[in-house]
Amino acid sequence: VAIRLEDYASAPYRIDTVDLDIQLNPRAATITARLAISRQDGTPEGTDLVLDGDALELFGLAIDGLPLTQDRYTVTPDKLTLNEVPTHPFVLEIVTRINPDANTELMGLYRSSGTYCTQCEAEGFRCITYFLDRPDVLSVYTTRIEARKGEAPVLLGNGNLIQSGDLPGTDRHFAVWHDPHPKPSYLFAMVAGDLAHVADTFVTSSGREVDLKIYVEHGRENRCAWAMDSLKRSMKWDEEVFGCEYDLDIFNIVAVSDFNMGAMENKGLNIFNDKYVLADPETATDQDYANIEAVIAHEYFHNWTGNRITCRDWFQLCLKEGLTVFRDQEFSSNMRSRPVKRISDVRLLKSHQFPEDAGPLAHPVRPRKYTEINNFYTATVYEKGAEVVRMLKTLLGPDGFRKGMDLYFERHDGEATTIEAFLACFSEATSTDLGQFARWYEQAGTPQVDVKSQYNAASGDLTLEINQMISPLPGQPSSDPSVIPLRFGLIGPNGDDMPPSSVTGAKVQGDVLILEDKTQSVTFSGLPSKPVLSLLRGFSAPVQLEAHQSADDLLFLARQDCDPFNRWQALQTRATQDLISLAAKAVANQPLKADPQLVDAFGDVLTNEDLDPAFRALALQLPSEADLARDTGMNVDPDAISAARSTLRKALGSAHANAFKSAMSNRPTGTFSPDAANAGQRALANQALGYYAASGENDIEAVLTNAFDRADNMTDLIAALTLLVHDGLPSAEQRLEAFRKRHEDTSLAMDKWFMVQATAALADGLERVKALTAHPLFDFANPNRVRSLVHAFATGNPTQFARIDGSGFEFVADNVIAIDQRNPQVASRLLTCFRSWRAYEKTRSAHAEAQLLRISSAEKLSRDSRDIVERCLQ
Ligand code: ARG
Ligand code: ZN
Repeated sequence: VAIRLEDYASAPYRIDTVDLDIQLNPRAATITARLAISRQDGTPEGTDLVLDGDALELFGLAIDGLPLTQDRYTVTPDKLTLNEVPTHPFVLEIVTRINPDANTELMGLYRSSGTYCTQCEAEGFRCITYFLDRPDVLSVYTTRIEARKGEAPVLLGNGNLIQSGDLPGTDRHFAVWHDPHPKPSYLFAMVAGDLAHVADTFVTSSGREVDLKIYVEHGRENRCAWAMDSLKRSMKWDEEVFGCEYDLDIFNIVAVSDFNMGAMENKGLNIFNDKYVLADPETATDQDYANIEAVIAHEYFHNWTGNRITCRDWFQLCLKEGLTVFRDQEFSSNMRSRPVKRISDVRLLKSHQFPEDAGPLAHPVRPRKYTEINNFYTATVYEKGAEVVRMLKTLLGPDGFRKGMDLYFERHDGEATTIEAFLACFSEATSTDLGQFARWYEQAGTPQVDVKSQYNAASGDLTLEINQMISPLPGQPSSDPSVIPLRFGLIGPNGDDMPPSSVTGAKVQGDVLILEDKTQSVTFSGLPSKPVLSLLRGFSAPVQLEAHQSADDLLFLARQDCDPFNRWQALQTRATQDLISLAAKAVANQPLKADPQLVDAFGDVLTNEDLDPAFRALALQLPSEADLARDTGMNVDPDAISAARSTLRKALGSAHANAFKSAMSNRPTGTFSPDAANAGQRALANQALGYYAASGENDIEAVLTNAFDRADNMTDLIAALTLLVHDGLPSAEQRLEAFRKRHEDTSLAMDKWFMVQATAALADGLERVKALTAHPLFDFANPNRVRSLVHAFATGNPTQFARIDGSGFEFVADNVIAIDQRNPQVASRLLTCFRSWRAYEKTRSAHAEAQLLRISSAEKLSRDSRDIVERCLQ
């Protein structure tokens, strides 16, 4: 059944305090919950109290110490209903028992490598005890945890440790944690296990000393330094940039190896997928370091945007996620290169969010209905949600934005609130009407902005005819115009911006046009010569722009634009045009030849020493096959796209072989450092290595094996291995074996070993992946391992996944069905790789549809997977 935003009603009862007693045993954990419950104002006496559960078994029930007779309640695994609810405040005591070892869904309380841990967002607390498991019920939690001392010497909860000790005469001990900040149940957490830790401290701006600890499995302590450093920088940054100070004496992070998502912001006790904590040069790439910095920051920033101010209901998920992603992006931009970070973020948005927004799983940033909330932790809610906050800042300016944020923190601290309340803060703080802007939260689909321009030499006017629209989507046949901040520049022949003397036809704020209508005619006056248009600088709005620019203009922008983002974008746009036309030729069996001017333009980027190496590495990266499929629209043939892409790669590699050869040996010297400058240098060297591998020179294999053998860090090692394997070179097998021997005890490194093979677009790619599912180190129970093999295959190996005989789809469908039995969240996420199935040419789309139908008729299917498969087929 669908849950709808318009049906929201506040909870009839409040739960002011929650006292939990958790007795841990691997196969039987007993939870006693004492809930201080009272009627909300306005709730009629005698209203039933209905608590959520999920597969629970009830072992005891009492009100104010008196056991309840059978006639006072009804109970099922999913619901506990009390009738004759006392009219006065009372304490409800509930005893449940669960089996952490048997919990393969990794929701609620489970064990990962022997460590007890929890995941309660969105609706996992109800797997632990019956509760009003909704984010607008805020309670003060006290948690007593008891376990066998040998099994779990470390006992952690939310907030502060207030008591601990041994239980005399037993082998057990306990700890009591108290969190003074009222919070929703999804922020509850506990951890118990035999863990090592590293410790540090942070002194907040008002002088509070905070103990920082990161807990990991024994032997991994020396891989926590980067995460700890990132945490301290995040704490400082949030004080400086948003005025947000930490509010407890302790901040704990625990890294576990079996985790459905990236990490979780539980109050004072963040729990992380260990891939976003553990790093050393031997086992982590530069990208891993950057991800750790971003995710540590993200979870820490949730303390204010998510925890102190939380969501009224799950429709408001973007209130905390979009805003917190925006904050972590800003943090990384300040720590690293802002343009490089912006380009990376936009690449991610376009490759993940745009396809989502264009297919059957499209939904507004704030959805209006859902059947399974876990399926809405999407690129739209997170990444597009962050873009919407970024546009708010563009429209209101940095000061206006900060005023709005200050008012939001001041007015809503301690509340569970909504997008309307959030926008009202900005509107009031800056006296701006944000009524139309709110559509960004309400309408699905990427606006397409079409711009035609005409220059009148006699008058010196440049006129733009601008049109915006969103293609019809399931459930959204039509749409209304959005407010689009379009940052622009008009570039003169010498490469400098030419300021117009006036602009008519649209509001302008500095260098931003503010579009509000479906069609608009904008005139720039006083231009002595015809400018080259640079539109959507910095990607100022999450739209698909079609500016009808000539190849010459695009290559001019790629060389001259003062906006680094558009410089990158112009070359990408030109490459995309060329690649799409090459792919069309491949379909028609015509000879393929890359545009020589484009090949030159890439060469210029490679050798332009004025550009940051990290920027050059990104600019040299061709649009991915998925990007090209998206821009192709319908009738997608992945083999043709792949042929087009390798044609351009080879053309680039052979035209600039010498330049690539020298760039690939220009690597940082001295001890390894993951900072942006060093990482950028490695990125450029490895990008160059990749092009050299496509050059056709006869020493390629020697160059690659040498790069592998000499690599002294994971970034360089995996780059060389990837090229050896993906190019199907004979020495690949030996090097894979060498990598395995070196890293087989480090599962995060072995994830990369699986992923390299999963993404090899070789003729027998699918067979290799199938064989790897039987490898002794493959494990269906470990989400990271499943993602690095099966998910990586489905998303990172487009030609093998979409094999013309349908066998790639069939393999992934088999895995969805099998994994769904054990872990619905991992299965339904994997299933989303079918979302663009209608865009394939007809043979492939028929195969994909057949597999979706087979999944949909599987005997038992979780609500998670059922929801995705039905929306895909609708
Ligand atoms: N709130 C977490 C984060 O973004 C993610 C939780 C994901 N939960 C889920 N059910 N998928 O930081
Ligand atoms: Zn988050």
